Amino acid sequence: MRPDPDLDLVERVEGRTRLLVPAASLGGGPPPKSPAFFNPLAAVTRDFAVLFYGARYRGSRARLLDALCGVGARGIRVANESGADILVHLNDANPTAAGIARRNCDLNGLGDRCTVSSEDANALMYGSPRSGPRFDAIDVDPFGSPVPFVDAAVSTVRPGGIVALTATDLSALTGRSRTSGRRKYFLSLHPTDFSREVAARALAAYGVIRAAAAERGARPVFAHVDSQYLRVYLEIRGHARAADESLDRLGHLGYCPRCLYRGVMDPGRGHRCPVCGGELLELGPLWLGDLFDGQQLRGMLAMSDGMGWAARSKLLGRALADAGLPPYYYALDRIADSLGTCVPRLDRLLESLASKGYRAVRSWAHELGVKTDAPHQLFMEEVRRLSSCRGAASPAPPRRARCSGACSPSASPRGPPRTISSPSPGSRPARRPGTP
Ligand SMILES: C[S@@+](CC[C@H](N)C(=O)[O-])C[C@H]1O[C@@H](n2cnc3c(N)ncnc32)[C@H](O)[C@@H]1O
Ligand SMILES: [Zn+2]
Repeated sequence: MRPDPDLDLVERVEGRTRLLVPAASLGGGPPPKSPAFFNPLAAVTRDFAVLFYGARYRGSRARLLDALCGVGARGIRVANESGADILVHLNDANPTAAGIARRNCDLNGLGDRCTVSSEDANALMYGSPRSGPRFDAIDVDPFGSPVPFVDAAVSTVRPGGIVALTATDLSALTGRSRTSGRRKYFLSLHPTDFSREVAARALAAYGVIRAAAAERGARPVFAHVDSQYLRVYLEIRGHARAADESLDRLGHLGYCPRCLYRGVMDPGRGHRCPVCGGELLELGPLWLGDLFDGQQLRGMLAMSDGMGWAARSKLLGRALADAGLPPYYYALDRIADSLGTCVPRLDRLLESLASKGYRAVRSWAHELGVKTDAPHQLFMEEVRRLSSCRGAASPAPPRRARCSGACSPSASPRGPPRTISSPSPGSRPARRPGTP
């Protein structure tokens, strides 16, 4: 890395791309916004962007708008590494960031494939000509919530194009901050153990609703999430009928804090839990269809394997296995904790559910997440049966059950919810959430 005397920039290689970035952004703490923003930890989200746009546009020419580009890391990596014929327009309201992005284009010999501007992203999107060439894809990667930019992106991208939305305001999208979820996204949410998938489905639903207001359809084709960020890639279609079809895929999940049941809300059945009769909390509106497009995933997986990106391939493989499964998972650490037992070995649990005729796979959203179409009570019973902790049969679950050795090594029961088991045969009586 060599220092830059003017802006204290240093050179860094991410993927196969050289980037000048502010030295202060590599200090380990939260990256500063001035002189320009660059988050080294977001490299994983940029790897997926390279794979996504590369797989999507291989064999055709496309125009991508990186509408809030910072120093240009995402768009420049796509132009440089995706292997597709993608022309990238980079834009950032901060002129210093846009200036660094321009230098980064030159540094990678991309002067003829990238253009740069410094404008407000909404002004740029609404100002782009409707009659001339439109953007095939618009990438929205703001600080916090993408809400201020969603309307412009979904209404100005070319029909058939992609709008990728990043959100880092995960407290609003997971139910941790219910008021902010309601204010920003008009969501009704509650914290659950499967909140990462809820967040992805909530952001997808928001995109669908805003696209529908512009008489456009939208469906998610890819998503990824971790504890800090969420990204959803939406494919936008151009008619009012497509909008209606997309809206038909929205709905609510019901979640029972008493027995931890989760399922798609059936409006005809009211708010009673079908397992324990407790009150169901409603989560939504959420996108309830598939979050991934199989062809898109297979293209990304082939690229990722070719690049030797094993960790990305692992996640893509899990996403492929997600097709057709219910729109939620069970986070085993939280489930085991609430049962007062320890986490069973994941491979044994999946095998056991499969042997009983159910689909069961690992979640793409959570390291200890299990997705299955097994009925709730049966799933909970299997978790209990396959856990071999001393606390498993105790009526008062300890905070940390002791493992006799057959449990998952990564198991670490933690935190709330302090909830209860399902009232299935042989289980303990239900307790109210919050009781010790
Ligand atoms: C999270 S950073 C983008 C990071 C970048 N995409 C990357 O991968 O490195 C958000 C950027 O949005 C820019 N920004 C904020 N408001 C904007 C607006 N209204 N129009 C355009 N850019 C804006 C900020 O200057 C900042 O560089
Ligand atoms: Zn219940």
